[in-house]
Amino acid sequence: MDAIELLKNRRSVRKYKDEPVSRELMTEIIRLSQFAPSWSNYQIARYNVIDNRDLIEDIADNCVQGFVYNMKTIKRANGIVVLSYVTGESGSLAGKVENSEKTVSDNNWECFDAGIACQQLCLAAYAKGVATCILGVINNEAIAQKIDLPKNEKVAAIIVYGYEDGEHHNAPERKNIDEVLRFID
Ligand SMILES: Cc1cc2nc3c(=O)[nH]c(=O)nc-3n(C[C@H](O)[C@H](O)[C@H](O)COP(=O)(O)O)c2cc1C
Repeated sequence: MDAIELLKNRRSVRKYKDEPVSRELMTEIIRLSQFAPSWSNYQIARYNVIDNRDLIEDIADNCVQGFVYNMKTIKRANGIVVLSYVTGESGSLAGKVENSEKTVSDNNWECFDAGIACQQLCLAAYAKGVATCILGVINNEAIAQKIDLPKNEKVAAIIVYGYEDGEHHNAPERKNIDEVLRFID
């Protein structure tokens, strides 16, 4: 698939065919997501793939703050990737360079790393014919508990996936370029 087409035509999809996506294909997609850049190449993103129907239903019913729209999307999905990240690493070069105590950044690079990995996963999935939707209206703590997430990790988002059902939509309208772009002289 052409890269420009990939960037323009990936969509958030919320309706899926009743057709499983193999673990083999999900592994391929996640392998591609791993090529995302990350702070000092620490690669703190972790991919917790759930394709067990009972657990999918459980997360839909109990881990989305009662937001019915997301409940329905999750129940229609073939699987969920709980994208988590290892805490306490990104943002620091401690021990890696001289004066390393000065190399801790205040920016929230952990979430930044997770976000890039998340988008790379969605693009890789689309390139491989699998549709996705990032869900942010979730209960992070409840999900972490449900999947017994290691204590040094936090949930960033969940990404539901499956084979798209119905017509592929055009992108919802983007803002005018003048509103978002500034050339600074
Ligand atoms: C951080 C984040 C959180 C999101 N949370 C939700 C969500 O909870 N439920 C949902 O249906 N879509 C969610 N979306 C998908 C957006 O609504 C979608 O990306 C946006 O409308 C643009 O559509 P497109 O992805 O098809 O270009 C989320 C997207 C992002 C990046």
